[in-house]
Amino acid sequence: MAVAGNQSFYKWLSSFMRGNASFRQSLWKWWYNFLSRKYSNLTEWTCMNYGYLPEGFVGSAAHEEVSKNLYQQVVNGVNISDKDVLEVGCGRGGGLHHLHERFSPKASVGLDLSHRSISFCNKRFPDKGLRYIQGSADDLPLDSDTMDTLINVESSHTYPDFDAFVKEACRVLKPGGHFCYADFRQAEKVDSIKKSIESAGFQIEVYNDISPNVLLALKADEPNRDELIKAHVPWWMRTTVKQFAGVPGSKFFTDLSSGETVYMHIISRKI
Ligand SMILES: C[S@@+](CC[C@H](N)C(=O)[O-])C[C@H]1O[C@@H](n2cnc3c(N)ncnc32)[C@H](O)[C@@H]1O
Repeated sequence: MAVAGNQSFYKWLSSFMRGNASFRQSLWKWWYNFLSRKYSNLTEWTCMNYGYLPEGFVGSAAHEEVSKNLYQQVVNGVNISDKDVLEVGCGRGGGLHHLHERFSPKASVGLDLSHRSISFCNKRFPDKGLRYIQGSADDLPLDSDTMDTLINVESSHTYPDFDAFVKEACRVLKPGGHFCYADFRQAEKVDSIKKSIESAGFQIEVYNDISPNVLLALKADEPNRDELIKAHVPWWMRTTVKQFAGVPGSKFFTDLSSGETVYMHIISRKI
């Protein structure tokens, strides 16, 4: 899928978004609320990440398979069965639902800034032991020392204050609890992300640059993203949505391929 057409609106939006941090957060909130309102009936769209495939994967990927793989990779090696699990930035809820079905945590809570996404999630996934709540990553509406695992997938790059988020993550986790994290940043910012996590009170146990896996996923998932966009996005929004979807040819895909952007997977434990 070529990202054809005039990209100037997307470029303008991106540079606008890089401005004032809390203003940028309001814009992101507006964007995710807009998407949830517009696509509230699109029940098969439940994940909003770039996905993960193991190196050497050949062939095509089923709808949302790569996105659910990313969730499994994020918690890989951490036992979440019969545990209290929180996801911050759960989006349309499909990733947390996948883990809930597969690993049977005691209880799973998904939290997102977008109240419209939360309404979608609670309607779409009325499963026992799984609930979704509205809230912000830097002020979690949960008691201290109550969670065994906190998951955060491709959400933190829009937070105005990453340090405040990781402090909150540390506060709500029980001692020894795991923080399972995946997101992308400009390569030169990776060290500061690791430092923030450690300064908040975590010990990093796993660090992986999973950029090649994410690129593989984006290539394998291209036909699925293409089909969804053609079927549901009006022509005048397609260029912007293709950029957002990270398809081959998009700025995200190009920056990840060149190493300018790095997709990190970090598992750390509350000391
Ligand atoms: C790219 S989506 C990823 C959603 C989901 N993790 C997934 O992989 O499908 C990013 C999500 O982070 C949420 N988000 C952004 N800022 C947030 C904040 N400060 N607190 C909680 N959620 C936030 C957005 O509303 C959006 O749903």
